[in-house]
Amino acid sequence: MKVAIVVYSESGHTLEVARQLRKRLKHLQHEADILRIQSSASRKKLTATPSIEGYDALVLGAPVHALTLARPMKRFLDSLPMLGRMPVGVYVTQQFKSGLFGGNRALRYFRRRLQSREATLTDGGIVHWSSKAKHKQIETVVERLLP
Ligand SMILES: Cc1cc2nc3c(=O)[nH]c(=O)nc-3n(C[C@H](O)[C@H](O)[C@H](O)COP(=O)(O)O)c2cc1C
Repeated sequence: MKVAIVVYSESGHTLEVARQLRKRLKHLQHEADILRIQSSASRKKLTATPSIEGYDALVLGAPVHALTLARPMKRFLDSLPMLGRMPVGVYVTQQFKSGLFGGNRALRYFRRRLQSREATLTDGGIVHWSSKAKHKQIETVVERLLP
């Protein structure tokens, strides 16, 4: 399977999870590319919008900003075509140890928008960066994101 891992990441946390996922996918003989979303400093406009054409499955990863999904990922979701039942997994990273500080809301946002694009939602989750269990959470999220 050819998997696109589309990531928005500012300080590298979300990217680190993507790298671990790519490593695991390659170990399982899948093809996997990390495609970076880039935005203007204000986060209002995208300066790089990756294309997912030619991929069989999609994983989307982004940080929580201001108790919701980071705006550049929202803009990327705006740009997505209809996905025709493509499998899509999602994950977010956040600083705080509870999903109540934006992680749960960000995942709900992802799911709502992807359903409207007719994606087949798979699994994913939240990595709480300040948690002592962070490494375990990364492992769990990576396993859930595998096809
Ligand atoms: C502008 C801004 C707002 C943030 N708001 C939240 C928040 O509401 N809740 C939270 O848990 N973390 C928040 N964070 C922390 C990030 O979600 C967290 O550090 C994330 O792992 C960063 O991912 P990245 O390194 O891939 O950019 C915020 C960070 C920034 C820069």
